[in-house]
Amino acid sequence: MMKIEIADKAGFCFGVKRAINLAETAAEKYGEVFTLGELIHNERAIEQLEAKGIHAVDTPEEALGKPLVIRSHGVPKSVEDAAREKAGEIIDATCPFVKEIHKIAAAVPDNGTLIVLGDKNHPEVVGIIGNANPKAQAFTAATFEEADAVLKKEPSACENGSGASATLVVQTTFDSGVFSEISQKIFEKYPRVEIHNTICTATEQRQKSARELSCRAALMIVVGGRSSSNTRKLVRICEKNAKTVFVTSAAEIPRQILKGLRSDAVIGITAGASTPAHTIKEVHEKMNEEITKNNENEEDFASLLEQDQSFNRLYNGKRVKATVVSVSKKEAVVEVGAKQTGYIVREELTNDPTAEVEDIVKPGDVIDAIVIKVDDSVGTAALSKKRVDAALGLEKLEAVKESNETIEGKVSQIVKGGVIVIYENTRVFIPASHTGVPRGGKLEDLQGKTVKFKIIEVSGDRGGRVVGSIRQAIREIREAERAKFWETIEVGQKFEGEVRSIENYGVFVDIGAVDGLVHTADLTWNRVGHPKDIVSVGDKINVIVKSFDPEKKRVSLSAKDPNDNPWTKFVAEYAKGDIIKATIVSITEFGAFAQIIPGVDGLIHISQISTERVQDINTVLKVGDVVDVKIIDIDEEKNRVSLSIRALAESGEALADDE
Ligand code: F3S
Repeated sequence: MMKIEIADKAGFCFGVKRAINLAETAAEKYGEVFTLGELIHNERAIEQLEAKGIHAVDTPEEALGKPLVIRSHGVPKSVEDAAREKAGEIIDATCPFVKEIHKIAAAVPDNGTLIVLGDKNHPEVVGIIGNANPKAQAFTAATFEEADAVLKKEPSACENGSGASATLVVQTTFDSGVFSEISQKIFEKYPRVEIHNTICTATEQRQKSARELSCRAALMIVVGGRSSSNTRKLVRICEKNAKTVFVTSAAEIPRQILKGLRSDAVIGITAGASTPAHTIKEVHEKMNEEITKNNENEEDFASLLEQDQSFNRLYNGKRVKATVVSVSKKEAVVEVGAKQTGYIVREELTNDPTAEVEDIVKPGDVIDAIVIKVDDSVGTAALSKKRVDAALGLEKLEAVKESNETIEGKVSQIVKGGVIVIYENTRVFIPASHTGVPRGGKLEDLQGKTVKFKIIEVSGDRGGRVVGSIRQAIREIREAERAKFWETIEVGQKFEGEVRSIENYGVFVDIGAVDGLVHTADLTWNRVGHPKDIVSVGDKINVIVKSFDPEKKRVSLSAKDPNDNPWTKFVAEYAKGDIIKATIVSITEFGAFAQIIPGVDGLIHISQISTERVQDINTVLKVGDVVDVKIIDIDEEKNRVSLSIRALAESGEALADDE
């Protein structure tokens, strides 16, 4: 038995219902009102409105000072302003969703760019353009290429641009699938473009509902006005999946419309946003009559023949189990239990342009695939594996995002503004700023590499756009390393580190999880003027932990090797009373420092320089002088040595000749 199904969402949308209500209420109040253009795109509904005193005019002047209704599409601001001047009362029935787009258009910054994706002649698009900030530039585009041509001239739209970027909005009745494709491409090429998905959910729901029904139905009847763009879109959607007939009313339903259909066929009915409910009802009733007639009068041999066939019927969008029969470089041939021979070209097997067909499937594999084109003239059906994988992948990636898991994938492509990573056959876009490659670095270095990343966005809005971040994964890994570092750090622990930066007071050394400070005095046992005299950025040096503060996240390091401690050498070789040669290395107000061996200096106090009173040390000693001195004290606790020249003069002692 044939069955009729009406799409879940069909007929008047919220905006159209609201506009008609406003116009009818005004007509009741004033007896007659005018609408600026036809209130809805449906010839029969317009006739009925006329009967209620609601007339369409093309200009505000034609309203002759009577109330004027602005229809749900909205109008350019200049038209609205003129209407307010010339007509009587203005009843603004612009759909609130369209009003929202007007606000976005008006908020485009001065000198900014607005692109309206849609039909440039559609009144809604004309209205949006006419509400854009007059100091901005407004364009329409119907395809990616047209939008691309505009954006190429808008340097701030690209990844490295600065300042105001471009804004993109879309006609409320635009095809959501086409929008997904276009917006994905724009996002990948111009990540700074502000994309607003302004497709009305009423439209999307109607399109989705029509799509679903048409996949089950053998025949679709689309009801609506000939000039209604959203009705024509429904026709295009249904045509892809089922035989489709476009009518404005029940009277237009062709005779013998059911001819050739199976006896258990589903007949679907959908309707555009401006189709009144009673018109849909009339079509439904007429189709019921047709079915009754068909059952009574006709034996549908074609239908019987079809029923005899044991084959499955394939249609676009059908999910099937496919058994791989053979593989070649270009494609895999599959068996799907239907009369058509199935095939999946390499590009529909995977998103990875570097993968070979035989790497993905082999004969005997049973895979999930979706039918994308049936060609009965040659008996083939084109299928796609990657689209099924992508749908499953999206669900998985949604879960990955929720759990904040880090996953791995291979970088398959470098695109403008970032890279594409393939994860279980799903394309994940990683913006350049999230790749972990520093500004000015080469994204190409990532090509073919397996990277760890996080999922930061999974959006159904743009046809399943998934955005990832390598940078966030790196940050998390580093944080984990840091936490482990602070748990295990000990004084005396040794590291090989890399000099990150050089300051006047020391150098910062990367020891893996954190950067530690090597104070200048801890760089070497010898005297140091400036740290840069000893090390350069990028040098690898061995350090040990001197102290650390987990609270302040500070680590103090030393690059001095304890085995080379010159003090140890000094106390082993020298003793109090020894007379030695020392080199003056610095002069202060209270004395002069003299190097005994590299790393050990002794102080000759001003009172120990001469038997005479010394007023200014510089008159007696200068840096570089080599002098004979006596070691008069060694403080092993404080590592200090006191020297004296005066002691030698007083005692008459002298250095032995061979010393
Ligand atoms: Fe408004 Fe959406 Fe209808 S924008 S006019 S509710 S299709």
